[in-house]
Order: sequence, then structure tokens, then C-alpha cells
Amino acid sequence: MKALGYSTQRVWLHWLSAAIIVWTLISGFYVATVDVSPRINQWVSFLNVSLTTVFIPFFVWRLCVFVAHARHTGVRTFNPMERLALLVHTLIYLVISLVLVTGVLMMDRPINVFGLVEIVQPLSNRELVSRFFTIHMWACVVLSLLVVLHVGAVIVHELCGHRVLRRMSLCSRVRGEQRQ
Ligand code: HEM
Ligand code: HEM
Repeated sequence: MKALGYSTQRVWLHWLSAAIIVWTLISGFYVATVDVSPRINQWVSFLNVSLTTVFIPFFVWRLCVFVAHARHTGVRTFNPMERLALLVHTLIYLVISLVLVTGVLMMDRPINVFGLVEIVQPLSNRELVSRFFTIHMWACVVLSLLVVLHVGAVIVHELCGHRVLRRMSLCSRVRGEQRQ
């Protein structure tokens, strides 16, 4: 989106979130569908629950930056493609929020964060826990589709000569050149 220039803070938060989300989606679905040993299953579960719990405050920070930026952006001046990109980005934020909330609420045990902190299990009603598990799983399916759509759009833009990846470069000089 040409109307949006990304700050260094936003770029770091984007790549941190992308790495955690892509890893959690792939490893989570892998252990849920492939017959792996109980040790690997336990290890992935421990790592993913810890990692995504630590990720929550970073995501809230990122969401605040996104909302603050969106409020100061003149959406009316956007062309249809930019509006579509903004819609997909907003959908991604909404679905990640749902995945995080349902992940916490579906816990059927205390939330063990890297063996350092233990957060009490929020719900004890088994039926509710199982409902949140179902929502969590489907929200993860929707998130996977949005990620595929997002990465696909980036590839199509690049192939058409719109250098969108430079906007998300970790090097501020490359991002600066792109904005001019
Ligand atoms: C962006 C964040 C997250 C992503 C992308 C994600 C992704 C996934 C995926 C793909 C699965 C496998 C679903 C299936 O069984 O088919 C899963 C299961 C699970 N998730 Fe999440 N999740 C996230 C956040 C959380 C959080 C914050 C918690 C709790 C603190 C959590 C707890 C669990 C638990 C307990 C399971 C069941 C399997 C296990 O014990 O690992 N998730 N998650
Ligand atoms: C792994 C490969 C990925 C690539 C190559 C990539 C690339 C990009 C690029 C180039 C932009 C800037 C688009 C523009 O406005 O011109 C962007 C923005 C964005 N990306 Fe990604 N992305 C990836 C993964 C992800 C993942 C996994 C998520 C979250 C599920 C995500 C969420 C977003 C969001 C919400 C934005 C809007 C800007 C913001 O609010 O920070 N991306 N991405």
C-alpha cells in the first residue's frame, strides 16, 4: 500500500509475528494430523503454548500501532487495491485475536510458560473448554488461508513489478528509497 510507510518498530513486529505464527500453524497442524511420538507431541505443545503466551503482549502492542496508524490514514484516498489490502490486514488482526483468546480459554491445564511462570487454567467447565478448542482449531484454519492469501498477494505484486517486500525491509535505507 503506497499510502502506508512502515516504521522500524512495525517492521520488526511484523517479522516477529510472522515467524511465530507460521511456526505455530505448521507445527501445531503437523502434530495434530501426523502420528508423531508422545515425546515430540508434548515438546511441541509445551513450546507452542509458551511461545504464543509470551507473544500476546507483543501482539497487543502491534494491534495498538496498527489502530493508531489506521486512524491517521486517509482511507478515502485509497484505490480499490489498497482498500482490499487494508481489509485483509484487518481480517488477519481480528482472526489472530480470536486464535489467542480461544487458545487461552481452551486450556485444560495450567498455562506453563517455559517452566518459569504458571498461569491458572481460566475455565474449568469441560464443555466450554471443548467448545473453545473447536473455535481455536477453525480459527487456525481461517488464519492459515489468510496467510496463504497474504503471501500469494505479495508474490503477485512482486512479479508485477510492485516492490512491496521493500516496504517491509529490515533496512530503513531500503524502505526509505521505496517510499520516494
Ligand atoms: C497465534 C497464536 C496461535 C496459533 C497460530 C495456534 C495454532 C494452533 C494449532 C494449528 C493447533 C492445532 C489444532 C488442531 O488440533 O488441529 C493448536 C492447538 C493448541 N493450541 Fe494453539 N495457537 C495459538 C495460540 C495459542 C495460545 C495462546 C494457547 C494457550 C495459551 C494455545 C493452546 C493450544 C493448545 C493447548 C492446543 C492443543 C494441542 C496442544 O496441547 O498443543 N494456542 N494451536
Ligand atoms: C512469511 C511470509 C510473509 C511475507 C513475505 C510478508 C510480507 C509482507 C509485506 C511485503 C507487507 C507490506 C505490504 C504493503 O503494505 O505493501 C506485509 C504486511 C502485513 N503482513 Fe505480512 N508477510 C508474511 C507473513 C505474514 C504473516 C504470517 C502475517 C500474520 C498472520 C502477516 C501479516 C501482515 C499484516 C497484518 C500486514 C499489514 C502491515 C502491518 O500492520 O504490520 N504477514 N507483509
